[in-house]
Amino acid sequence: MPETKLIIMSLEKPDLEGLKEAADVLRKGGLVVFPTETVYGLGADALNADAVKRVFDAKGRPPDNPLIVHIADRHQLIDLADEVPEKGQRLAKEFWPGPLTLVVKRTFLVPDIVTAGLDTVGIRMPDHPVALALIEEFEGGIVGPSANLSGRPSPTSAQHVMDDLKGKVDVVLNAGPTEIGIESTVLDVTVDPPVILRSGGLHKESIEDIIGPVRGATDIELLKRSPGTRHRHYAPRAQVVLVGEGNVQEFMKLLQEFRQQGKSVGCIVHSHELSKVESGDYFKVLPSPIEFFARYLFRTLRELDQGGAHVILVEQVAEGGLGTAVMDRLRRAAEPA
Ligand code: TXA
Ligand code: MG
Repeated sequence: MPETKLIIMSLEKPDLEGLKEAADVLRKGGLVVFPTETVYGLGADALNADAVKRVFDAKGRPPDNPLIVHIADRHQLIDLADEVPEKGQRLAKEFWPGPLTLVVKRTFLVPDIVTAGLDTVGIRMPDHPVALALIEEFEGGIVGPSANLSGRPSPTSAQHVMDDLKGKVDVVLNAGPTEIGIESTVLDVTVDPPVILRSGGLHKESIEDIIGPVRGATDIELLKRSPGTRHRHYAPRAQVVLVGEGNVQEFMKLLQEFRQQGKSVGCIVHSHELSKVESGDYFKVLPSPIEFFARYLFRTLRELDQGGAHVILVEQVAEGGLGTAVMDRLRRAAEPA
């Protein structure tokens, strides 16, 4: 079992020694957790199948769930992508670095294990100085699933990473809490119109401004194109129950029911109406804007878990923009185990 080394990274001036050490670990097939603007990623050399296998093992990730590859420069696409359709190129130009993962046809250089045997690969350029500096220092693509145990909420701090993966990874680069707090948007550009396989930090509306209409994936398409999405996701240990936005009556009723069952209840709310109720054993308010809710959602789910909540009541948010990604995560977190 590796001893996990925590290296502190400043955002202004990433520590070169630490980066060199981390890149060296990657070259030797080891695992390096790195910060991105969305969540922390569990990094390994994308072209080294043994190293990638370690990523699946450390996370306990089902082998049918493909990994995305992080790059720091569009020239790196040459090794990884067989073809990037014109719409994909326009999006990359506009939004990279940023919270957009493009699914494209892959080259033979990308090991099967990365893509779970699919003929496509997901690629993104993260908007984070430490992530970009690490990729540059390593001089190659780095796989990066979220650095949590499979099924758990994604890590938005190095502490979350340590809670899940201490002793299972070689290095954790700690650059403080992540900015967006929710993962990237995954867009399949091998089809036209492109299909959103996972909503995320980049809004559908922003994508459509650049390339025109895109679609959401149907359930059948999701199974075929992104088989991993059917697995349980984003769930704290506590049971998550969703409450209608601003619905005080429903909120009080659920609260009472769970209390009567002797359960300790955590609450995450945002609206003016529910913020006033101030009830439950752990009561967290994540007021608007939605960016704030997104940034602190996974962190708060983990906190309430640690506090010992049996049930977490979460107030739903309005769909649209980042709200669509937040609701996607909430629905999945609330799915029965
Ligand atoms: O923001 C993010 O995307 C973070 C940071 C670390 O970059 N990474 C992340 O990775 O969330 P992961 O593995 O937790 O989620 C990647 C998603 C999964 O839903 C996976 O099924 C999908 O992307 N995916 C990856 N490659 C794919 C492919 N070739 N075809 C379809 N879906 C793919
Ligand atoms: Mg994940």
